[in-house]
Amino acid sequence: MKSKGISKDFAEAKVDALATVVFKDEKVAGILKDLDKLTGGQISSVLDSEEFKGETGKTLLLRFSADKKKAGRLLLIGAGEKDEYKCADAAVAAGTAVRTLREMNLKSVAFAPRSEEGAEAVAACAFQGAVTSEFDLDKYKTKDKKDKKFKEFVLFVDGAKSSDLKNGLERGEIIGDSMNLTRDLANEPPNILTPTEMANRAKKMAKDAGLKCEILDEAKMKKLGMNSLLSVSKGSEQPAALIVLKYTPKKSTAKKGEHLALVGKGVMFDTGGISLKPGEGMEAMKYDMTGAATVFGTMRAIGMLKPSIPVMGVMGCVENMPDGKASRPSDVVTAMNGKTIEILNTDAEGRLVLADAVAYAEKQGASHIIDLATLTGAVIIALGNLNTGVMGNDQDFLNKVMESGKEVGEGFWQLPLKGYEKEVKSDIADVKNIGTKRRAGTIAGGLFIQEFIDKAKWVHLDIAGTAWADSPKPESSKGPTGVGIRTLVNLIEKSQ
Ligand code: BES
Ligand code: ZN
Ligand code: ZN
Repeated sequence: MKSKGISKDFAEAKVDALATVVFKDEKVAGILKDLDKLTGGQISSVLDSEEFKGETGKTLLLRFSADKKKAGRLLLIGAGEKDEYKCADAAVAAGTAVRTLREMNLKSVAFAPRSEEGAEAVAACAFQGAVTSEFDLDKYKTKDKKDKKFKEFVLFVDGAKSSDLKNGLERGEIIGDSMNLTRDLANEPPNILTPTEMANRAKKMAKDAGLKCEILDEAKMKKLGMNSLLSVSKGSEQPAALIVLKYTPKKSTAKKGEHLALVGKGVMFDTGGISLKPGEGMEAMKYDMTGAATVFGTMRAIGMLKPSIPVMGVMGCVENMPDGKASRPSDVVTAMNGKTIEILNTDAEGRLVLADAVAYAEKQGASHIIDLATLTGAVIIALGNLNTGVMGNDQDFLNKVMESGKEVGEGFWQLPLKGYEKEVKSDIADVKNIGTKRRAGTIAGGLFIQEFIDKAKWVHLDIAGTAWADSPKPESSKGPTGVGIRTLVNLIEKSQ
């Protein structure tokens, strides 16, 4: 999809359709007034009759012009309350426009986001929304593929500087493509996307995005004492891989000693191991590597956006399989930081991977660590798919992450760790990998990872509920959501 910014003559745009937002219960004014005149009063008519009331997610298609040189259609997109309309909502509206029009076989749109935020920011949000709206799950279909040939997205911001629009559209494309890359990885079948294949793709991506990439194979990990991570892949034919990506700015503005690491759970497939999961629904566990895929996509975006602080990405990639060589419930292993772990359930494997991955990130110099993981089913029970579960050891750092999420329209909800510490104490080793019965399951996961953080400020994001959408939305396909990338990119850019 090509993009272009315009700052005047919206109604003259040479596209298949115009699209703009309508706020809840608003009266015809501003750009709507101009469009109303040009459509012979169609907009005031549908608003007056309450046929269309600007509710979020609702759309209405009107005829626009019979002149072949102008748009034939006008799409109105409900955007809810005007006071609450943010850049992130413009992304949703732009995505809704592209997906709706594409369904009708139209190929180009001029979109007026009607946002009061700066033109560059709005352009970035809108085009990101347009780009991510094109993602579909049909990669492996040989026929009946969605027609992805939406050709052009024209963004209209009245009176905007063309350089602002251009920069914003470029940013939107980088972030949108990075989200789609993460979504593609999350959707890959596990026979294709093995730890080794993930490593190969990381190497290639790093080259394109200007990042350094290092792959630690099992022998290297063994040498470093990463027996916790390695215990998870013992039952698999596929060797584990620790993928390390590094972004170094030309000129760093980071405070001395400050270095952010993003650490992702990359369980390419989670059968549960010897603590085998039930067969029904097990296929969903191909997305158990979405934490790693999110680190992958974020690092790509960072490599291309080039902020002035260094960022490290660490992805612990393994396959959790039952086998004669697999870990047993009751095994004890020693992690890289010297702590002993009693494995009481081989299905609580993500934390075993992250234990060594976060310790490695800290050893590599990370002062701030954010880990992302589809860690617990319990977080889906607690928060559903609207909010990512957040825990951490430093309230200021945690607030920064949550604030960043709020700004980009991603939901986070904090769960406590204090007071629950004994949940992961083992009778025979330093820690055990599950809590007591099914109590506070998400918190137990967070507490376990905390045991492997030394001095770093750390935030844990449990994305099991938010990383996958069970149903489609007007602006996006069902399946992997790309959650977290916008929050992390925004956080990093704000920390410059
Ligand atoms: N990958 C799962 C968590 C999960 C479940 C993610 C459903 C997405 C959807 C994780 O490895 C797991 O199996 N966790 C167990 C932990 C339990 C054994 C303490 C769980 O949530 O049941
Ligand atoms: Zn598991
Ligand atoms: Zn898992």
